Amino acid sequence: KKVLFVTPEFADLIKTGGLGDVSAALPRALGKRHDVRLLIPGYAQVMNSGHPIRMVGRVEADAGMPACRIGRMDMPDGLIVYVLVCPELYERDGGPYGDPHGRDWPDNPVRFARLSLAAADIAAGHAAISWIPELLHAHDWPAGLVPAYARWRGLSTPSVFTIHNLGYQGLIDMSLRHTLAIPDSACHMEEMEFYGQLSLLKAGIAYADHVTTVSANYAHEITTPEFGYGLDGFLRVKARKGLLSGIVNGIDDSWVPRSDPHLIAGFDRNDLSGKAVNAAYVRDLFGLEPSSGPLFAVVSRLVHQKGIDLTLGVAETIVEHGGQIAIIGCGEEHIEQAVHDLAARFPGQVGAHVGFCENEARRMYAGSDFLLMPSRYEPCGLSQMYALRYGSLPVARRTGGLADTVEDGLTGFLFDEPSVASYRKAVLRAINVYRYPDLLNAMRTRAMATEFFWAQSIEPYDQLYHSLLLQRQVIAH
Ligand code: ADP
Ligand code: GLC
Repeated sequence: KKVLFVTPEFADLIKTGGLGDVSAALPRALGKRHDVRLLIPGYAQVMNSGHPIRMVGRVEADAGMPACRIGRMDMPDGLIVYVLVCPELYERDGGPYGDPHGRDWPDNPVRFARLSLAAADIAAGHAAISWIPELLHAHDWPAGLVPAYARWRGLSTPSVFTIHNLGYQGLIDMSLRHTLAIPDSACHMEEMEFYGQLSLLKAGIAYADHVTTVSANYAHEITTPEFGYGLDGFLRVKARKGLLSGIVNGIDDSWVPRSDPHLIAGFDRNDLSGKAVNAAYVRDLFGLEPSSGPLFAVVSRLVHQKGIDLTLGVAETIVEHGGQIAIIGCGEEHIEQAVHDLAARFPGQVGAHVGFCENEARRMYAGSDFLLMPSRYEPCGLSQMYALRYGSLPVARRTGGLADTVEDGLTGFLFDEPSVASYRKAVLRAINVYRYPDLLNAMRTRAMATEFFWAQSIEPYDQLYHSLLLQRQVIAH
């Protein structure tokens, strides 16, 4: 079946977190069964990536959204990516959502509404592209209007909306509805209104034929007030109708520690010796003293969600027990500063790099003994899966996808309360296991053997696509 994936990130070219990884891996994994193509904004990083882009279509201006060209980029492995080319909206210095200081672009509503409407235009056959998708699959708030425009434009194309993170809602001022061609009838509590504003995320939930999220546990959690960000009631209705499901993410087969070319030395569960080589590299890179104690890693966006403040709270305990910490991340400025300060407090024992570097991240998963992931909530989490594959045992909060993928006491250490006290107990359990090499290696071996590859997650997506297309056929007859 022909499926158009609409997403703001694509790890081959631009990524801030796990959505980029999923957008690159899932279409490829589904590619054996479906003709999945991507639609992404033509950010500077995309336009200047060196991959040839051939102009193949165009969409007209609509309300306050400019006309754009559509380019086609064929990735070396054959994946087809449509690029929405609009220099005034997308070709800037900075990330997908904001400037180099992390401030959101003020015109994000237009930037992402334009992306979403382009998807509907393509599905309607209005973009001069002969390939017409039979199904639309939109991801997170930037693509929340995809199902909405499809509905408002009277298309019969079914749509799936995947929530990767309910914490980012794409709230916009009600007055923008004219600019974005949002009908007045949609500005209502049952549709996309959210406490006086409009929510692009809610639009995705309201208008998609089916809503998914990225783990079974998170699918349940978001129907509760604690994790629902005010949308739990709305989501409960979806869940009761069977229109909300959790499908856990996978990882792609570039994450194999024996063959990963980015590592300093490869290793596998039968021969872990290469791990120490990566550890020595990481210690050196982060200015840590040579040590035979445990090495803890943080590879994370530095935002409230990830509980970095809790890690600051347990750092002293780790150092007191002979452990060291290497941190890589970027995000909110005050958390970046706090991480710097921590490293300055414990020279030679805590090292921090503010920035984003995939190769370093891979070496950190490979070199560390434990990964710290005390997330306040975690829809799925990919970092812990990478860590498990690379024999770094997660110390993680029992929430969302972390609870679904880490086995407490067997492949990692889970704690319940988002508090330093609860977290510290888990950290001390990890340090204790480190003292018993046989136990540590048994846990590592089990962690490294865990199957997380996409092969097991594509089945439910495949079934979902088929059932939605079947329903459409039944309705059409
Ligand atoms: P989220 O999507 O919420 O950030 P995930 O665990 O799903 O969390 O995915 C995070 C992804 O981003 C992983 O691929 C991780 O390795 C990567 N990542 C996060 N921060 C950095 C960084 N500073 N440098 C390199 N990779 C990073
Ligand atoms: C989000 C979530 C993360 C998830 C990722 C990919 O960024 O925070 O838990 O793994 O999306 O689905």
